[in-house]
Amino acid sequence: MKDPIKFGQFLFLQRDFKISSDNVKFFEFVKLPKRGVAVELGAGFGLGTVMLAHRYPQTTIYAVEYQKSLYELLLKNLELNKVSNVKPVFCDLREIKKCLPSQIADVVYCNPPFWRKEFLNPSTKKGKEYIYANFEVDTTYRDFVEAALWLLKSYKRFFLMMDTPRFLEIVDFLRSKKLYPKRVKFVFPAKGKKSNVFFVESFLGKPTKELEVLPPD
Ligand SMILES: C[S@@+](CC[C@H](N)C(=O)[O-])C[C@H]1O[C@@H](n2cnc3c(N)ncnc32)[C@H](O)[C@@H]1O
Repeated sequence: MKDPIKFGQFLFLQRDFKISSDNVKFFEFVKLPKRGVAVELGAGFGLGTVMLAHRYPQTTIYAVEYQKSLYELLLKNLELNKVSNVKPVFCDLREIKKCLPSQIADVVYCNPPFWRKEFLNPSTKKGKEYIYANFEVDTTYRDFVEAALWLLKSYKRFFLMMDTPRFLEIVDFLRSKKLYPKRVKFVFPAKGKKSNVFFVESFLGKPTKELEVLPPD
């Protein structure tokens, strides 16, 4: 295995995966309680888990991942960064009821594999680990939302990162599940370009009076 790369004060083993600035911005957008319980659904190699565990040392984070190879990388990255407030959970989130109790979380956050199937180049040399992490070929954001509904306490917060062209579909789906968007940030790849991804913070069971749209970077 290659040596870990240095990212700020952290070290990561990441294999095929790059540290995307969008993901980093998403983890900056996510807020956890100073003390309490959070769940990251689809923790991958642990970028957000490590960043947030470090920012909130008194909060317990359950980091859920179902790809064995990524889960093992996550364990190594937790060790490399001496993180002690994370409980890794090897679990398919579609079976979350078998892995974690209901209503344990003050916050659930995730960036699901959201690139649509039709954007997957059929002759790609990328392996299954990468494809299942990035493309909507196995699990969809709806599965992530259903798992979050199981985990969240009432009136608590759900953070989601998705692709902007599906913003309306996603807001409709969240609202149909009583997850009410409160804060949104659109991310633009460059000045003058259309937004490609967005982040949304929603509250379970607490309808929003005013939506807050954050300024672009
Ligand atoms: C876009 S990646 C995000 C990884 C990580 N949150 C990050 O930003 O570095 C999505 C992650 O969700 C995981 N995932 C997808 N479907 C899952 C499922 N059914 N159960 C658990 N994890 C899943 C993938 O393996 C992948 O690690």
